[in-house]
Amino acid sequence: MDNNRVLIFDTTLRDGEQSPGCSMTTQEKLSMAHALEDLGVDVLEAGFAMASEGDFAAIATITQAIRGPRITSLARARSEDIVMAARSLEHADRARIHVFLASSDLHLEYKLKMSREQALAQAAESVREARSLCDDVEFSPEDATRSDRDFLVEMVRVAIQAGATTINMPDTVGYTTPEEYGQLFSEVRQRIPEVDAQGIILSSHCHDDLGLAVANSLAAVQAGARQVECTINGVGERAGNAPLEEIVAALYVRADHYGVTTGIRREMLYPTSQTLGQLITFGPSPNKAIVGANAFAHESGIHQHGMLANPLCYEIMTPASVGAAATTLVLGKHSGRAALRNRLEQLGYTLSREELQQTYYRFVALADRKKNIYDQDLVGLLPQQIRDRRPMSYAEVD
Ligand code: KIV
Ligand code: ZN
Repeated sequence: MDNNRVLIFDTTLRDGEQSPGCSMTTQEKLSMAHALEDLGVDVLEAGFAMASEGDFAAIATITQAIRGPRITSLARARSEDIVMAARSLEHADRARIHVFLASSDLHLEYKLKMSREQALAQAAESVREARSLCDDVEFSPEDATRSDRDFLVEMVRVAIQAGATTINMPDTVGYTTPEEYGQLFSEVRQRIPEVDAQGIILSSHCHDDLGLAVANSLAAVQAGARQVECTINGVGERAGNAPLEEIVAALYVRADHYGVTTGIRREMLYPTSQTLGQLITFGPSPNKAIVGANAFAHESGIHQHGMLANPLCYEIMTPASVGAAATTLVLGKHSGRAALRNRLEQLGYTLSREELQQTYYRFVALADRKKNIYDQDLVGLLPQQIRDRRPMSYAEVD
């Protein structure tokens, strides 16, 4: 594989669905899977086969309908989970079993009541079993970022020896920082030479509890991760997972800095975000990067003036490049004359300098009282003689 190509592993249907307000029926998951296929994700985590009959059915349905991405099914490091994951993937063109087992002492002692030695043996045994059923196996040492480093490296080594083809480093509780997470990847590559020698893919998996999921994922890429796990709109456990659209946009807009590419059709980012918002109970917040309603909206006069002169003044990517609707210059109390004139001209009114000045005073007074200014409010500010000047459109004449 091209060493500059980063695989995008989407887990909207597994880690994303695992959060309040995000559960989907099989048919809804299938619609989302089609959207992810159109988006061009490399790996699609369709669910956790052992979790429920519904999850199993959704994975099996997706494997029959989706052909582009590799389909993966999550499994705990237990034989019954692994067998179930393999069964759910029977019809997949290209399948992956994703096995996870905690590596932190906290999880081993309190959650699994298992010693480190037992965990190492179980990791090896389960990866071996998964490999006997599927030629592509990912292993995740859960809570990797809070694990003793020597033990974590040992567990990764054991998983690779047992046949894992991808090693994921989950920041399960969103605890790590970019420097620390990048260092973890460098250290694993340095202490386990087989990673690079055998072409094992290292993967990032970040949660956003400290708002660092994207920064951490990008730091991992800089340190050699060639797969990033993420979700549409950043949905996921607690504060969510790393948002796919932000990672892809960052790698694209700052290709000069990161020097890597993805296979994502960027113009499908916004439509895919909208699809998810319609299937679950909430969409992205208005100020969400890339896909939020305000991501390409400008209200302040200084910004609007700059945007009208040259959009590069205040936009680092075009809305079209991520499939969003055109930039909007929102008229509000911070707007200036340039934007007001621009909008009035779009509505068919050309004002003299003096007329614009008078209208602008009335506009600011209104904007101080009203949160949203609509086109009809603007027209209402114009004296009758200006309104009478506007040529009618054919639609109005009809
Ligand atoms: O956050 C996590 O640790 C996970 C693993 C199951 C990969 O989602
Ligand atoms: Zn997770």
